[in-house]
Amino acid sequence: PLTEPTSPPLPKAELHLHIEGTLEPGLAFELARRNGVELPFADEDALRAAYSFDGLQSFLDLYYALMAVLRTADDFTELADAYLARARQQGVRHAEIFFDPQAHTARGVPIGTVIEGLSRALDRAPETYGISTRLILCFLRDASAEEALETFDSARPYLDRITAVGLDSAEVGNPPSKFREVFARARNAGLRCVAHAGEEGPPSYVWEALDVLGVDRVDHGVRCLEDDTLVARLAAEQIPLTVCPLSNVTLRVVDRLADHPLPAMLDAGLLVTVNSDDPAYFGGYVDDNFRAIREDLGLGEEQLRTLARNSFRASFLDAAGRDALI
Ligand code: ADE
Ligand code: ZN
Repeated sequence: PLTEPTSPPLPKAELHLHIEGTLEPGLAFELARRNGVELPFADEDALRAAYSFDGLQSFLDLYYALMAVLRTADDFTELADAYLARARQQGVRHAEIFFDPQAHTARGVPIGTVIEGLSRALDRAPETYGISTRLILCFLRDASAEEALETFDSARPYLDRITAVGLDSAEVGNPPSKFREVFARARNAGLRCVAHAGEEGPPSYVWEALDVLGVDRVDHGVRCLEDDTLVARLAAEQIPLTVCPLSNVTLRVVDRLADHPLPAMLDAGLLVTVNSDDPAYFGGYVDDNFRAIREDLGLGEEQLRTLARNSFRASFLDAAGRDALI
């Protein structure tokens, strides 16, 4: 029957996951108490009741507000540990994890505190959870290009722990071309590049991510389907798209999961992966996304296996690391 869970979960990589988006209400209140931070919600239920969004910006407002509870390196270690424990249960074997340094430095938390705290959890993840990891430093696209450059320079002492740079936050009005210089700098430093594009923004932002930023993967990218020439390019070059089905429903990119373009993307020959984005906010972790698309989109076992295999193909693991996991 369609409602039966995929059990055990398919082994997979998660390639689109904001670590700050894994902050569950329980941990948020615990950290708030510990750090003496007052939250504008009476309790966990009141916070959960605020998880109703009419688009990306309404989500981002809450996402940034709740980060106020993250203050010490230990807080970031706990946050990452909680994610990794959940990820293991969801079949994750490899995770490429976004973080938003500017959302923390703006509150007076040094970038070193964030990276050291996260690294403590990630360094022991292979042993503790059987999960290898990479870190992706994201620039906030609604902040200035100058601030992105300053952020990259402040991260230079830690670049041995960073695999790639990314671009996230409010998309419309903040095209990838705004960040040409910082992405060039990152590539010169030997980093890979990804960018959110085509979530709420138009196909032209996906073109810019490819041609101006030179990204190796496109995060979301679902609006590429509005441009046949773009779809042909993405398919021909097998540029991975990290799609987040439950996120797209919660943030009203699609009306209902049954309307999600994922099957059309697979049919078009795109290298699509399935990911959770901000699972504490969007109603599920990565295997929950797999189960939801199985049920609401009627995807068969073969297609789910393709999506899981794609996640390793699209990862930044080298060929040997990839082959060991597929
Ligand atoms: N930051 C966290 N989640 C995001 C998303 N889905 N789009 C853009 N920025 C984000
Ligand atoms: Zn995202």
